[in-house]
Amino acid sequence: MCGIVGYVGKRPALKILISGLRRLEYRGYDSAGVAFFEGSATGSKIHIQKSEGKLENVERLLDASPGRYEDVCCGIGHTRWATHGKPTTQNAHPHQTGHVVLVHNGIIENYQTIKAELIARGHRPQSETDSELLGFLVLEEMNRGSSLFEAVRKSFQRLQGQCSVVIMSEKEPGTVIGVRNGSPLVAAADPKGGAILASDPQPLLELAREVVYLEHGDIVVSNDRGMRFYDLETGAPVERHPTQLEWSADRLDKQGFPHYMLKEIYEQPTALIDTLNGLLDRATTDPFTLARQPGVELLERAKEITIVACGTSWYAALLGKYWLERWARIPVNLELASEYRYRDPVMNEGTLLVGISQSGETADTLAVLRKSKKSEIPTLAITNVRGSSISREASATFYTCAGPEIGVAATKSFTTQLLSMLLFSGALMLKPRAAAVPGDITRRFDDMIRLPHVLSDYLGDRSGKMASSIRETARALQLSKGFFFIGRGYSFPIALEGALKLKEIAYVHAEGYAAGELKHGPIAMIDENMTVVVLAPGDTWRDKTVSNLQEVKARGARILGVGSASDSELKSMCDHWIELPNVQLDEAFMPFFLTAVVQLLSYELAVLKGTDVDKPRNLAKSVTVE
Ligand code: AGP
Repeated sequence: MCGIVGYVGKRPALKILISGLRRLEYRGYDSAGVAFFEGSATGSKIHIQKSEGKLENVERLLDASPGRYEDVCCGIGHTRWATHGKPTTQNAHPHQTGHVVLVHNGIIENYQTIKAELIARGHRPQSETDSELLGFLVLEEMNRGSSLFEAVRKSFQRLQGQCSVVIMSEKEPGTVIGVRNGSPLVAAADPKGGAILASDPQPLLELAREVVYLEHGDIVVSNDRGMRFYDLETGAPVERHPTQLEWSADRLDKQGFPHYMLKEIYEQPTALIDTLNGLLDRATTDPFTLARQPGVELLERAKEITIVACGTSWYAALLGKYWLERWARIPVNLELASEYRYRDPVMNEGTLLVGISQSGETADTLAVLRKSKKSEIPTLAITNVRGSSISREASATFYTCAGPEIGVAATKSFTTQLLSMLLFSGALMLKPRAAAVPGDITRRFDDMIRLPHVLSDYLGDRSGKMASSIRETARALQLSKGFFFIGRGYSFPIALEGALKLKEIAYVHAEGYAAGELKHGPIAMIDENMTVVVLAPGDTWRDKTVSNLQEVKARGARILGVGSASDSELKSMCDHWIELPNVQLDEAFMPFFLTAVVQLLSYELAVLKGTDVDKPRNLAKSVTVE
């Protein structure tokens, strides 16, 4: 949600703060700001520039005083995604209370009580935010004689809820303090002296490769000599070891693509290969042998699996359920994390709870993992982010290796989640319960190894056959009133994902349906202004889906068919046609190709509509509030 950066050291701080905030833009935000000690870090006055809207507005404010801030070497910055109070300049961070200035990510749940108490003590908060209130608590403690460090610690004892904070005081120039109390915070020592803090590792990449993921309940004190970690509750020093980041800064750039989302769609074959290499034991050629790690044992012991996730990750889980049930013959329950966390689910003995989340920070998924852990249910996480909250909470974690995903809409993180589900289905297919035929196991495994290469050939490049046919189709369909995506079996989750992608980035009304459900209500919506995208690869469900196609065609809908290149019968029924590759692969792999089609179709429609593809309105990359 909100993005946080803090820097103190010997380099030009404003440059680092602004470029750090740029790296966090993908999280989605509606206002931004920076606060810094004017002049050198030993100068005592903190200056704030903030504005509603984009980061450019803050840069313009800074540019209005050319040269004035060149010596700045200590400051903090923030991109805000409004939760308490409107997205205005007044509510934008940093917030200043007397000599205390802070930025905050997360929610102070008892803010109303705290606000009432502060007002009763004569304070007058200037914003509608919960964040500003913490500044008053810290100020009060410092006025009673505490150092900034002690004041922050004592103030946190008053707070309920999950958050992270970066804070400075004019009374202690050149010190930046960070707290992780739930919401993530990472820190890295600047090799030139000093330190950088941020809500995720991306802003750190230009300065350092070794980063420390703060633990829940850590406080870090940084100055131009480096950083030290302490326990928030006791104030005692704690040791924290750095993690080597595998992501390089150049992987974060667009590399010639007009949008990150498009680049990330084309990166999918590589992301799949990286994920295979990460999860498989590559020392053996035995099919579906997972690299030995704690999660494997949990998976193998499970008698039943419950998967929780949100949004696109939930769709990956839905397809995972289909594969796991069919290949591995293991019962799988699928749950929306936001529903599950407030229900009273009945769990059978031997159930493994799996949380899927690309960001590893989704509040609802995290809450279910926490609750399950308390009830001593074994938990497994599947995430793309090392050191994320979900990975820390779960009994064991499998990492997808999609690399950084900057576009807010999930693309390569989704296909790598699919691949991990497929790998688990394959690994569990080896169990006696599955009673799989050895020939099937080998054939499916060989197909899985071929998959990234076939997908890469299919995607081609931006001027290739597939990309051009989708671009042309998008142009023809851009005036449609709405879209239905329909599919059965393995194509159903992709129909849901296709509709979500289109809504997210093109702001076009779209729904995904199991094709057999149309006649139970949605078909009433069909007329000649509606486009129905029919996902019908040549699989077990193809004929049934084609019958549903005929029902909507008879009612005037425009049909975009996505099917096998050899399916001339299906092609002849469609107004528009996108063909899948003509290769012999198990039907379980068709969703990867369908996904590429629906992603590119949404992308092209969004470009035609002129939306902000990488940062769609109202959305955030990690949904750390419920
Ligand atoms: C995907 O395009 C969406 N932005 C969204 O549905 C996302 O999948 C959802 O918020 C879950 O996120 P997670 O995978 O990080 O938990």
